[in-house]
Amino acid sequence: MENGFRAEEIDTGRPHPARIYDYLLGGKDNYEVDRKAADALAVAAPEVRIGVRANRAFMRRAVRHVVASGVRQVLDIGTGLPTSPNVHEIAQEVSADVRIAYVDNDPIVNTHANALLSRSAATSVVLADLRDPRAVLDHPEVRRVIDFDEPVALLLVAVLHFLTDAEKPAEVVATLRDALPKGSYVVLSHATGDFADRSDAQAVYNNATATLNLRSRSEVERLFDGFELEEPGLVQVPFWRPEAPVPPRSGEIGFYGGVARRG
Ligand SMILES: C[S@@+](CC[C@H](N)C(=O)[O-])C[C@H]1O[C@@H](n2cnc3c(N)ncnc32)[C@H](O)[C@@H]1O
Repeated sequence: MENGFRAEEIDTGRPHPARIYDYLLGGKDNYEVDRKAADALAVAAPEVRIGVRANRAFMRRAVRHVVASGVRQVLDIGTGLPTSPNVHEIAQEVSADVRIAYVDNDPIVNTHANALLSRSAATSVVLADLRDPRAVLDHPEVRRVIDFDEPVALLLVAVLHFLTDAEKPAEVVATLRDALPKGSYVVLSHATGDFADRSDAQAVYNNATATLNLRSRSEVERLFDGFELEEPGLVQVPFWRPEAPVPPRSGEIGFYGGVARRG
């Protein structure tokens, strides 16, 4: 109960987005039900394995960028299962004094993250839901490491597509944005069906613990309201400031990514 849930509350009967993603990345923290869903996803969207790797690589480049720009605090909502390198490792390689709050609503992510990243002055691991952004912002373990009077890098990487339109993702982001001082950043990526019909991929999540809500370019752009997108704007993730030749089939990848500043 230390983490606020009991082992029997962990749902191994339905696929979880975090575990599907872990399997697609080649991780081991997943169950048969997740592997079946991920394999079905790879049939429906053959580029998905390249896509998740490209999404992770985008996150690495974006985190290095915002820390190099001077931000020393990261609020990572929708952390995912630990996978090397983790956000704190990427950020602290650029500057050792970066503090990180990891937030996810999946108890399995919370357990693994707690086991791996022992609580320290610089890191917290929080079980909370993005759909209640106020609860995230007010959580004592978030407040312990994040000072909202200083610039913050808000990471919403491959998570907002798990919110339905009825859950008002733009309002959720706006609530978080309004808590951030000037000089803060948002690093955001989001699944899209703009480059191929992905209704079959979406259907794979119908039985999962969260649905997949693909959004168009203009819908994703609206999530950046109140922020100024940095160059090159909102692009498919491999094309965000690539540091090496982009992987083959990058033009098919169904993830938009962007980094924006609160001016
Ligand atoms: C696809 S993974 C992305 C992990 C990591 N951000 C990355 O891009 O590599 C999505 C994560 O978001 C979490 N998640 C989904 N819905 C959430 C919600 N409403 N609140 C908090 N976390 C959520 C899932 O549990 C999962 O760990």
